[in-house]
Amino acid sequence: MQDWTSLKRACADCTHCGLCETRHNVVFGVGVEDADVMLIGEGPGEQEDLTGIPFVGPAGKLLDEMLSIIDLDRTVNCYIANIVKCRPPMNRDPLETEQDACIGYLRSQVALVRPKIIVCLGRIAAQRLMDPKFRITRQHGQWVERNGVWMTAIYHPSALLRDVNKRPETFEDLLSIRDKIRQVGARMDFSGASG
Ligand code: URA
Repeated sequence: MQDWTSLKRACADCTHCGLCETRHNVVFGVGVEDADVMLIGEGPGEQEDLTGIPFVGPAGKLLDEMLSIIDLDRTVNCYIANIVKCRPPMNRDPLETEQDACIGYLRSQVALVRPKIIVCLGRIAAQRLMDPKFRITRQHGQWVERNGVWMTAIYHPSALLRDVNKRPETFEDLLSIRDKIRQVGARMDFSGASG
């Protein structure tokens, strides 16, 4: 298994798909590297591409607010990554081929973090990690256990920015994540993050 240093270096130098040609930065991941809770989005947007940090644009600000409701904080007790590490032009959905080229990095991140809980942010992550037929409108908030890891999906924060009517359901989903954190005894009291 790769260690963090070699994984980050491989990712930074990656040319496995065409997204490397238009990226400014590879957006590797951020947070506590042995957190019990991992959140996985779809791919970097403009601000993320410019900074190299996941979820720092408007959706990221909302995500941080959502996480704070259930005492999650990227600097304290969770890790955040994406399905693809480079920005798809015009924020289009990442192509299947781009996801295929990148998914190994995420699998290595999951292997290193060893989370007890994975929260998919939006349809793309849920379809890639939970079920290719996943319907986010119908199945958000549902839980499945895979290889000892509890997995769920919630609406992507960008969807919640576009449609505030989805927020009450997401609030319920957040409470369900908090319950699951308690149920599995996930650690919430880390100090200091890197990445
Ligand atoms: N949307 C994502 O899915 N990931 C990010 O890092 C930013 C926006």
